Amino acid sequence: MKMKPVFLIGFMGAGKTTIGQALGARLNKPVYDTDQLIERKYGKSISKIFELYGEQEFRKMETALLKEITEKSGIITTGGGIILTNENREWMKKTGDVIFLQCDFSSLWERLEGDHTRPLVYHRKKDEVESLYKNRLPLYLESATITIDTTDKTVEETVDEIIRRLNG
Ligand code: S3P
Repeated sequence: MKMKPVFLIGFMGAGKTTIGQALGARLNKPVYDTDQLIERKYGKSISKIFELYGEQEFRKMETALLKEITEKSGIITTGGGIILTNENREWMKKTGDVIFLQCDFSSLWERLEGDHTRPLVYHRKKDEVESLYKNRLPLYLESATITIDTTDKTVEETVDEIIRRLNG
């Protein structure tokens, strides 16, 4: 059966990549990760891209990439900032199912603290990252066609719920 793409959105550390992989395996669908594809396309890590070109350029690459992969049917795991532009939000809603993996900030922070690979976390204080989370929360909610609270769920429980809600 041909399926619309399924976008997984959520804040950094929400488990988009892990859950996306598990969902792809269960549904027998390919999984595409926007950050990974950007890194491959430009031959540089996300941190290096931020360092060399800045966040704004990264956002342009992200939007271009999003539009390239949506032609494929599969699971698309996204970077936490994909919801920042209206263009990306509308594109995802128009072309697929958009699943927001919601999670308490304190649980996210436990996974993010000390992370060196994410330029928006590295060298930032908890308060700063928390305000980024609070500012973005309405955008995740607005973008989502399905919101799932993952806070106390295992990967398998989350995948079960996604499949149930996609079929419902
Ligand atoms: C970002 C999240 C990152 C990555 C980049 C910017 C963000 O992806 O795209 O560092 O703005 O939230 P993850 O959500 O996979 O960490």
